[in-house]
Amino acid sequence: MYIKELKDSKEIARAISDLIVERIKEKPNLLICAATGGTPTQTYQQLVDQKSRYSTEKLRVIKLDEWGGVPMDNPETCESYMQKHILKPLNIHQENYFGFNSNAPNPEEEIQRIKSELKKNGPIDICILGLGMNGHIAFNEPPSDFNSECHIATLSKESLLHPMAVGMGTNPTCGLTLGIQEIMQSKTIFLIITGEHKQEIAKNFLTGSVSKHLPASYLWMHSDVHCYIDKQANNKK
Ligand code: PGA
Repeated sequence: MYIKELKDSKEIARAISDLIVERIKEKPNLLICAATGGTPTQTYQQLVDQKSRYSTEKLRVIKLDEWGGVPMDNPETCESYMQKHILKPLNIHQENYFGFNSNAPNPEEEIQRIKSELKKNGPIDICILGLGMNGHIAFNEPPSDFNSECHIATLSKESLLHPMAVGMGTNPTCGLTLGIQEIMQSKTIFLIITGEHKQEIAKNFLTGSVSKHLPASYLWMHSDVHCYIDKQANNKK
């Protein structure tokens, strides 16, 4: 794993977005899997700011995960986030985007739909991840099986305390998520860890020991993970 400490989330956003822009130039129909939440927002903002440097005509995007049992247009869904921070500002064509419906009448069928979309369009070229307070990546909550695929997740208490869930005004009933397997099959993974509140989980993650109780630790088994951490999160004490 390539680990890079930078001063703050802004520097991280600049570094990662520069790398992504280069990749898009090399492969205009790149498939990007995008996490939502507070962590990657500045990276997406940087990509938007630099959009005159590349074409988004063929760029493909998949949503990493979604809250379940909430209307899609609730402002706190991952969908609303994707629309606001990525899809609209980058003019991603509708046919080049796929993601879970938060309010699918049959969530199990929805999981199968995304699984088959990914089989058709995958593998993911670049997967952008944040680190959950409990070590989850997407809604792969601890303990997470290494072989898990796209699935319906029971949300942990930490996830239910995430600002998106708290801001929804209703309790999400589950999570819809890519599994560890789909994430691990990504060609390149960017893991971003920022902020003082992530110190403890970052420290556990950076020991490098792999455990189902810290799902992000499976990333140590991947050959092309770039972990960017800011000074606030990387307290070595
Ligand atoms: P955050 O969420 O980026 O808002 O910290 C990360 C997560 O819970 O997966």
